[in-house]
Amino acid sequence: MKLMKKTFVAFGLLALLSSFSFADEKQYDKETGLIVDSGMEVVKTNCTVCHSAKFITLQRGNRQTWLDMIRWMQETQGLWEFDPKTEKIILDYLEKNYAPSESSRRPNLSKDLLPK
Ligand code: HEC
Repeated sequence: MKLMKKTFVAFGLLALLSSFSFADEKQYDKETGLIVDSGMEVVKTNCTVCHSAKFITLQRGNRQTWLDMIRWMQETQGLWEFDPKTEKIILDYLEKNYAPSESSRRPNLSKDLLPK
């Protein structure tokens, strides 16, 4: 009887976990591998001309990091200027879909480095 109860709990947890992972499932563009979301077409048009979209999909950054990368390409790599509306669409997309992940945050400081 006790075992039965445990089994039910285990199945319940499993179902809960799998429903979470399904909810998180993303769609990827077949051609480029970019995450399908609003703004993707604009990014695809403007950002896969000189290099593969892998440059983007392997990169993570907050809005400022992405903007810095765009400015760097504009200053040194011949990337054209965007009108503010286009730039906003691109940054919205990148910030939302390619933000730094939890796992890329630095690990916690070891105890001896913490203040007393
Ligand atoms: C005019 C050509 C051009 C366009 C258009 C372009 N890039 Fe780049 N990008 C480059 C070059 C050149 C590099 C450097 C490649 C290398 O390091 O070999 C680069 C590198 C990158 C990198 C890697 C930076 C790093 O630190 O490793 C990312 C990310 C990137 N581009 C994103 C984008 C995004 C987002 C867009 C659209 C807004 C874009 N690129 C459009 C030319 C371009």
